[in-house]
Amino acid sequence: MRLAIYPGSFDPITNGHLDVALRAATLFDRLVIAVYAGSEKPGALFTNDERRCMAQEAIDRGHEGATDRIVVDGFTGLAVEYARSLGATIIVRGLRAVSDFEYEFKYAHMNDHLAPEIEVVCLMTSSRHSFISSSLIREVAMLGGDLAGLVPDNVAAALRARVAERIGAEATATPGA
Ligand code: COA
Repeated sequence: MRLAIYPGSFDPITNGHLDVALRAATLFDRLVIAVYAGSEKPGALFTNDERRCMAQEAIDRGHEGATDRIVVDGFTGLAVEYARSLGATIIVRGLRAVSDFEYEFKYAHMNDHLAPEIEVVCLMTSSRHSFISSSLIREVAMLGGDLAGLVPDNVAAALRARVAERIGAEATATPGA
């Protein structure tokens, strides 16, 4: 049984992440999309639970065949310790551009230092998704841009709802502004 984890913040999960996850799921027996709940990045839009639920729903909708091999979970602490706790021997990472390489290189070597039995496997993100990042998605959503093709439908709906909430909260905080 080859168990792999695919860790990330997934705030929110995008079509780029899904592409990596679905392809990784064909290489390993089981893939855990592991939503990191250890620290919040600036500008975070969704709670840990929301990010996990969105990822699960994205996998459940329209990816029949993958759902039995991909599960979504949350973790805190070191990714390698989480992998060990599951008996996973592979950490999957996506590489979008050369600019990702330097970080992934250090990430892989540090993890190798911490847990030499765990292999970091990088998959190239498909070129049509190589410009996507969660923070850009959040920015485009906040400014009312079109997210079609960039995120799963359930994520687009969640982004619209969260943006409407934020705008409503701002209007209430500054009446007449
Ligand atoms: N498609 C679209 N976007 C992608 C992508 C893809 N295939 N691959 C990466 N991205 C985006 C992410 O959404 C993220 O965007 P953001 O910075 O705008 O939010 C960005 O690229 C960076 O991705 P990543 O490097 O995976 O960062 P992350 O914050 O999503 O995840 C962890 C980082 C959680 C995996 C890492 O910090 C970790 O393992 N932490 C646990 C603690 C630990 O073990 N630390 C020691 C590490 S040696």
